[in-house]
Amino acid sequence: MKFEKVAVVGAGEMGHGIAEVFALAGLPVSLIDVKQDILDRAKSRIADSLKHMASRGRIKPEQVDQVLSRISTYTSIEEGARGVDLAIEAVPERIDVKSQVLKALEAVLSPDAVIGTNTSSILISELSQFLSRKDRFLGTHFFNPPVVMKLVEVVKGPETSDATVDAVMELMKSIGKVPVRVKDSVGFIVNRIEGPELLYFCLLVDRGLAKPSEVDAFFRSQGLPMGPYELMDYVGLDVVQELLKYYAAKLSKDYGKCRTIGDLVSKGYLGMKAGRGFYEWEGGKAKIDL
Ligand code: 3HC
Repeated sequence: MKFEKVAVVGAGEMGHGIAEVFALAGLPVSLIDVKQDILDRAKSRIADSLKHMASRGRIKPEQVDQVLSRISTYTSIEEGARGVDLAIEAVPERIDVKSQVLKALEAVLSPDAVIGTNTSSILISELSQFLSRKDRFLGTHFFNPPVVMKLVEVVKGPETSDATVDAVMELMKSIGKVPVRVKDSVGFIVNRIEGPELLYFCLLVDRGLAKPSEVDAFFRSQGLPMGPYELMDYVGLDVVQELLKYYAAKLSKDYGKCRTIGDLVSKGYLGMKAGRGFYEWEGGKAKIDL
């Protein structure tokens, strides 16, 4: 299995970063989303990220334009995914949305192509029911920001072939990532571990026992780059909410007990991307007053 051209469907928080990762590794990338203005914003975020890396000497200045020129944007899967060897979907964490994208990808890709999903927690077995070529479908779960975070969970579904998993593990290593082979279970490894913590942090605030800034101060003092509330804002409260809903359905009703995140999401306070979540955000930084 050779991966010479990649498509990423969904140009949001994760998708734009995943496209950047592959383009930095020298691969041509089709970045696909429903509207051109989303794609333009994604390319401008990638350009900012590349310029920052060049300013820090992590890439050469001439690489900024070279990397950007490897990323083509499309508003149709049919056009953008044709001829690619690997397509990764990074669309919202909703099974109805993901199923549409997966079916559209399978319809246009060659039978040899591999499809990856960047789902944070939905079972691969649940998503694979929308595909016929289940042996070439797997989880490719990146972490935010993909260009900085090395870890990638490579999730083998019940019908994913070993050859597909092996090839994707090798690909991830070749682009500088640290892939871990993961079983198909709710939340995989990282988000399964984090699930109870997310619920607990939400309940702390629900019950007025602590303020996000007070809890985050403790975690920062332990040497972590972000506290849990800042991280939830960074990842997106809509993403966290979907994860908790899925866990409530699959693991325990307790995950449905948290109110604060739902309240914030219903007001449009989705975290960093909306300029407000637990905190207010400006220029990619949370304003944290103790
Ligand atoms: N492009 C390029 N470089 C970037 C970048 C980007 N998008 N984002 C951050 N960086 C670089 C910064 O430029 C900086 O490099 P420099 O020192 O050479 O300038 C370095 O990363 C550190 O960034 P900052 O100085 O801006 O700020 P921080 O030190 O706070 O780092 C962070 C930012 C890397 C996001 C750090 O806060 C962090 O690691 N936070 C935790 C992230 C995390 O845990 N992610 C996983 C979330 S869970 C998830 O994604 C799963 C999902 O399924 C829900």
